[in-house]
Amino acid sequence: MSTDFHSKEFDDGTRIKLEILREYLKQWLPVFLAGEKTYWKKIFIYDFFAGEGSDSIGNYGSPRIILEQLKNYCRNIIEKRIEVKVVFNEFKKTKVQKLKTQCDQQLFNCMSEEESGKYCPNKTETNKCTFELLIENQDFNDFFEQIFPQMLRIKEAPRFMFLDQYGIRHITEDVLHKLSQLERTDFIFFTSSSFARRFIENEEFKKYLNLTRKDFSEDKPYHCHRVIFEYYKSLLRPQDNLFLAPFSIKKNSNIYGIIFGTHHTLGMEKFLNICWKINKMTGDANFDIDDERINPNEPKLFEEFNIPSKIQLFENDLKERIQKGELNSNTEIYRYSLDSGFLPKHANNVIKELKSQGIIQKTFKTVAQDVHKIASPSFINQ
Ligand SMILES: C[S@@+](CC[C@H](N)C(=O)[O-])C[C@H]1O[C@@H](n2cnc3c(N)ncnc32)[C@H](O)[C@@H]1O
Repeated sequence: MSTDFHSKEFDDGTRIKLEILREYLKQWLPVFLAGEKTYWKKIFIYDFFAGEGSDSIGNYGSPRIILEQLKNYCRNIIEKRIEVKVVFNEFKKTKVQKLKTQCDQQLFNCMSEEESGKYCPNKTETNKCTFELLIENQDFNDFFEQIFPQMLRIKEAPRFMFLDQYGIRHITEDVLHKLSQLERTDFIFFTSSSFARRFIENEEFKKYLNLTRKDFSEDKPYHCHRVIFEYYKSLLRPQDNLFLAPFSIKKNSNIYGIIFGTHHTLGMEKFLNICWKINKMTGDANFDIDDERINPNEPKLFEEFNIPSKIQLFENDLKERIQKGELNSNTEIYRYSLDSGFLPKHANNVIKELKSQGIIQKTFKTVAQDVHKIASPSFINQ
């Protein structure tokens, strides 16, 4: 039996990864294509390990999800005259051929739909989509090296990148630092974290991840994606100004995961909202990663046992930092919370408690959703 990724039905782990991609695109696309004002005339979407388009029973893979989501904005693209460039890349020739056929078919079907109406230039037989689609057949690292200088020339352009590699090899320290130079780029990349944990002492692996067996806890193998995430986070330099967030995915006994990156608090908030919707206990896995067995429908007798330890640890840490004066404003609290993988609502619980204890001023506002636009003054009661 073939073990090729696309010749069988996607498993639950792949489905959740693709669902996160779909949900994030739903949040990302309107920011640049449907805002009241148009600030950017060019946007780019890349799927660097695109595969062939779907699984064995026709479930959409990442490139087709991108096309599916983008078509909701054809009207905006035309009316606002935004140039949208979509780039799919796939190394295997046979997969590229299938991908081209599937994309052509999807765009043809899209054009035939009633609602595409006057917003589809194909209707008037110009034979063009509202966006430009390029399908490449290259090794990722060669391709990325080749196009990076062009990207750097317009580094402020909005970009979204999906990097769904096999294994861990392609997202090196150098690639991460390059991504960080593209100041309006959000990305999601995949890693086979159990695999990395298992083979970390192998010389071949050390070329890609500078970790040792000791970095992985023996009694918490399910935390291996958190370890990989911390590793990538440790590679960031102050000038990178990048937020990263992990999401661990369990498939049978193996752990995989994605890592999201953005320069913007709003991007981070949107991504974390998706993750906390999937897992209300920790917001960073599709399973009970801390093995706490909390069932909200059958609460335990003592309230503290119903609050996941990850949330308790965060609340204590945040309280301490506010009381010590390390976090002095609404904006600082918000940025710190997001950088720790928590939402404004988690920070608000702490703010409310400190207000009720008179530790911070009653007038201090809880962390609002649009806090990324405001800067607030110091609030600690002197
Ligand atoms: C996990 S699959 C991607 C699946 C795809 N995102 C989807 O949803 O269908 C990884 C893909 O990367 C391709 N690939 C492997 N090595 C590559 C390389 N060096 N450069 C570009 N693509 C590569 C594989 O052929 C495979 O189709």
